[in-house]
Amino acid sequence: MIDNGTIDRIFAAANIVDIVGDFVSLRKKGVNFQACCPFHNEKTPSFVVSPSKGLFKCFGCGKGGNSVTFVMEHESMGYVDALKYVAKKYGIEIVEKELSVDDIKKNDDRESMMIASTYASEYFTKYLHDSEEGKNIGLSYFQERGFTPSTINKFRLGFCPTTGNQFTNDAIAAGYKEQFLTATGLTGKRESDGKLYDRFYGRIIFPIHAISGRVTAFGGRTLRTDKKVAKYVNSPESEIYHKSNILYGLFFAKKAIMQDNCCILVEGYTDVISLHQSGVENVVSSSGTSLTVEQVRLISRFTKNITVIYDGDNAGIKASLRGIDIILREGLNVRIILLPEGDDPDSFAKKHSANELKEYIRENEEDFISFKTRVLLKGAGDDPIKRAELITDIVNSMAEVPDNIMRAVYIKESAKILGISEHILLEEVARKRISHESDTQTKEFIRNQQRFEPQRYTQHNAVISPPTSQFGSSIDEIEKEIVKYLLKYGNSSFSYKEGKEFVKLNVAEIIIGDIESNGIVLQNSAYREIYKTYLELHKQKIVEESTELIPMYNFINHHIPEVCNAVVDILTLEDNYKMSNIWKKHDIAEEKEEDMLSEVVPRTIILYKSKAIESIIAELQRNLIEEGISEEKQSEILFKITALNRERLSIATRLKRLML
Ligand code: CTP
Ligand code: MN
Repeated sequence: MIDNGTIDRIFAAANIVDIVGDFVSLRKKGVNFQACCPFHNEKTPSFVVSPSKGLFKCFGCGKGGNSVTFVMEHESMGYVDALKYVAKKYGIEIVEKELSVDDIKKNDDRESMMIASTYASEYFTKYLHDSEEGKNIGLSYFQERGFTPSTINKFRLGFCPTTGNQFTNDAIAAGYKEQFLTATGLTGKRESDGKLYDRFYGRIIFPIHAISGRVTAFGGRTLRTDKKVAKYVNSPESEIYHKSNILYGLFFAKKAIMQDNCCILVEGYTDVISLHQSGVENVVSSSGTSLTVEQVRLISRFTKNITVIYDGDNAGIKASLRGIDIILREGLNVRIILLPEGDDPDSFAKKHSANELKEYIRENEEDFISFKTRVLLKGAGDDPIKRAELITDIVNSMAEVPDNIMRAVYIKESAKILGISEHILLEEVARKRISHESDTQTKEFIRNQQRFEPQRYTQHNAVISPPTSQFGSSIDEIEKEIVKYLLKYGNSSFSYKEGKEFVKLNVAEIIIGDIESNGIVLQNSAYREIYKTYLELHKQKIVEESTELIPMYNFINHHIPEVCNAVVDILTLEDNYKMSNIWKKHDIAEEKEEDMLSEVVPRTIILYKSKAIESIIAELQRNLIEEGISEEKQSEILFKITALNRERLSIATRLKRLML
């Protein structure tokens, strides 16, 4: 556990632009920063980061919060781990107990798997540098391949003992549970005799880092030349490792990708490492699998430009052709570089200086049309049928491009290269797009259907009630409204007509007064927490006779993550209409803030009181029919209900008067 003082220091140090910027490429827009939302797929940015308020908010999908809840959400971490992540970034020390078997047990499975992976990564690097076989076999192999010590350290390369189960035994002795060693695939269990063994035994290790820098998986390369042995063994899919969502090297490359506004895509681990070592750092690898949509979206957070470098052999060409359409479909620009036959980026980087390398990239980048045409034309020769197929193929690719202008440019260019009229190409692409679009529209429709289906019906197939109107507003909505007044207008005052006189009322005072004097407890736990915090600070303010505003960071950086999210949600509610939905129907024109407050604050409080009373009555009525209740108790409850009903009636009358 982390003490509150440390939590406060973490929040004080956290710069939301830094933190979010580690995962998303932010662009400055006025006083804020903007990006495409990392939590849902979008083409135009609706994700906003406010450095002054220390919060983020997506106006597309609604997600919002502070630095720590961003890390929680984005990395699927728990609160404590997100705090630790931020603390580490800013060099804030967290004093914690040694990891005991008990602590490991307490963590949930995911976290335990993460911890086991981190342990393994450290174990493998230590073994590489400290053990005899690590030094003689692993380290000397890396040196032979020309990896410098700083490269080996940077990528945390390692070696797994050859014995077959030494890692597993050591891990278990250190307190790591078998369950998590096998769940991450670090350890296997032999079917024949149930014996545990190391998945990566005798292999050199490439740890795979998530964007946050945590190790979630490994690639292990054999040092044997025996063709029967798989060259690479990789961690299996698991709770913490989804191969299609990860790009090898992204953690090390993201800064350079943003700086160069371009991402180079290669095939293998060693390609990434060698290019890095040669000074080309904006490099990632899809690790042998064909490129996935998720991987392209990951890149598109940092840049819209991808340059694919694949080996000059046939497999390399095929792989680049497959990847192109996926990249185009996501609206990114793609360029391709073919290396001389027999070279891969790794070997090529070794033969050339950094400058030569960069120059080669600049001079040999080809856009996808000329690349595809050149490659396919070579295979087609003069065969007219094959040439027609080639044109169809290129048309299909161009139809994937979502941006109209980009598409037009591509069409113009390919008309020139292929020697056909631009007009015909335009028509073909348009035809292709129509069928394509109706396809995606249908898919979208079906997806939406599925999304809403389970929610629209309750268990008994009854249709859910229509959207709430003002009197029917849920307690939740009203509580949110009240908390909003506190947070946004707590310090404001308004004039209120009482009898013949106008009195000046302070928003916070009137709300707190009403809630406290009626002994109302907010039902929604997040709003209750906000109210409680506000009340504390308000009391303190009175004691200190201060007229200062209560600073919002007290709420945005609340110690309960759910509260932070609720606060951000409220603070970022559209400000251009100050009326909430529950009053909108009433056609209160947009007025000065004070006029608006004098109308809605009293109404909302009275409405809330009547709702609160309603729910107390409902509770009492339930008590009334409980089994074994004494007559005495019954009449007591009935008496209470009558009194409350009378109160409710008087409130209803006041409410009606206010509504007119
Ligand atoms: N790969 C894999 N499993 C294999 C072969 C390859 O997962 N059996 C993946 C690895 O991520 C590898 C990439 O595909 O990095 C490219 O494969 P390859 O070119 O064969 O390996 P290199 O990384 O280039 O390794 P080396 O340079 O040591 O030959
Ligand atoms: Mn290779």
